[in-house]
Amino acid sequence: MKELRVGLIGYGFIGRMHTLAYRSIPIYYDPIPCRTRLVGVCCTSEQSCRRAVGQAGYEFATTNWRELVQRDDIDIIDCCAPNYLHKEVIIESIKRGKHVYCEKPLARDLGEAQQILKETRNCRAKAQITLMYRFIPAMMRARQLIEDGFLGRPFSFRAAYLHSGYIDPNRPLTWRLDRKKAGGGALFDIGSHVIDLIRFLLGEFEGVFATSETFIRERPLPDRPDERARVEVDDLTLLLVRMENGALGTLEASRVATGTNDELRIEVHGSQGAIRFNLMNPNWLEVYDNREAGEPIGGNRGFKRIETVQRYPKPAVFPGPKFAIGWVRYHIASLHSFLVNIVEDRPCSPSLEDGVRVQEVMEAAYISAEHGGWVSLPLK
Ligand SMILES: NC(=O)c1ccc[n+]([C@@H]2O[C@H](COP(=O)([O-])OP(=O)(O)OC[C@H]3O[C@@H](n4cnc5c(N)ncnc54)[C@H](OP(=O)(O)O)[C@@H]3O)[C@@H](O)[C@H]2O)c1
Repeated sequence: MKELRVGLIGYGFIGRMHTLAYRSIPIYYDPIPCRTRLVGVCCTSEQSCRRAVGQAGYEFATTNWRELVQRDDIDIIDCCAPNYLHKEVIIESIKRGKHVYCEKPLARDLGEAQQILKETRNCRAKAQITLMYRFIPAMMRARQLIEDGFLGRPFSFRAAYLHSGYIDPNRPLTWRLDRKKAGGGALFDIGSHVIDLIRFLLGEFEGVFATSETFIRERPLPDRPDERARVEVDDLTLLLVRMENGALGTLEASRVATGTNDELRIEVHGSQGAIRFNLMNPNWLEVYDNREAGEPIGGNRGFKRIETVQRYPKPAVFPGPKFAIGWVRYHIASLHSFLVNIVEDRPCSPSLEDGVRVQEVMEAAYISAEHGGWVSLPLK
């Protein structure tokens, strides 16, 4: 069986998740597409390097990510570094023939994203973006239903991704709040996921009208907590959207939505039916079929819950379709699909192109928020 050797860049929050996914795939799938070996890991601090080796079993650690990219005994570069590193890591890795699994958002702005695409266009190595909510069974089923015409003509959607972690004004100004390092705020961090899902379900965006706000304008510096600096990224961005298929929608990305945890909501209304989903209740896709009889006394009409639970197709074998699903499982499914795409030489999805499209919508939203008015897509 083929063995793919992994070099991970960034063993912070999401680097641990990716590591857990590599370790879990042999238990969740049978047969597995390939074996993986966690060869090298890169962090900036010695402490994180030690943790990655001790906790996760990487064979060695380095503080220079290029060392991983340049080694012959590494096949996959898994990029879990902050957004400002994605462009360089992807381009250099792919040019050296390494397959790349990279976190969202693809880059800090559309220019960087397009440069990634341009410089890697003729390379053979695979690249996939971790927009893993596409791998929730409820979202997979929603897409099937929409493709089969369940909604009829799609009229409108209401989408939101709501977090509350940035309400505390004393949360330090780490890389996610630094425009130079992150590129954007709530829209980039969590809005990228929900934009991708809307594309996954309803196709391309035609235009956006947006407004953004930074409610907490100064935050303490991480290394000098007595000093505060200006925050230049959004806490909240709201979009009005026109889709190419004629549907209208609203989309909200907020990191200051008090009372929420990890609340990604999507509701779509069409001429024949509707669907809705909430990430806090991910076992169910709710569907409404307007073709059901509405009489007598409501007939059979009303929202029903489809038990999508953990119903992944084979070769997923564990823990079985009836068990409640959660965030870790989507990451495992996303990484599994990447490994299958490498081994079977299939196109990756979500691809770099998908990452660029999401980036373009976010860029259009920031242009609209800054200058006012509708911004048409694709951007000229
Ligand atoms: N798809 C999802 O569900 C999801 C969720 C969260 C994050 N993300 C994405 O994942 C990426 C990382 O986010 P995170 O939350 O994991 O951030 P994090 O917790 O701050 O971790 C970042 C990691 O990158 C390392 N790093 C920073 N600069 C580096 C450099 N120049 N060279 C090598 N390593 C470097 C850090 O090293 P030290 O440990 O030494 O500081 C740390 O291990 C972001 O793009 C984010 O948008 C995706």
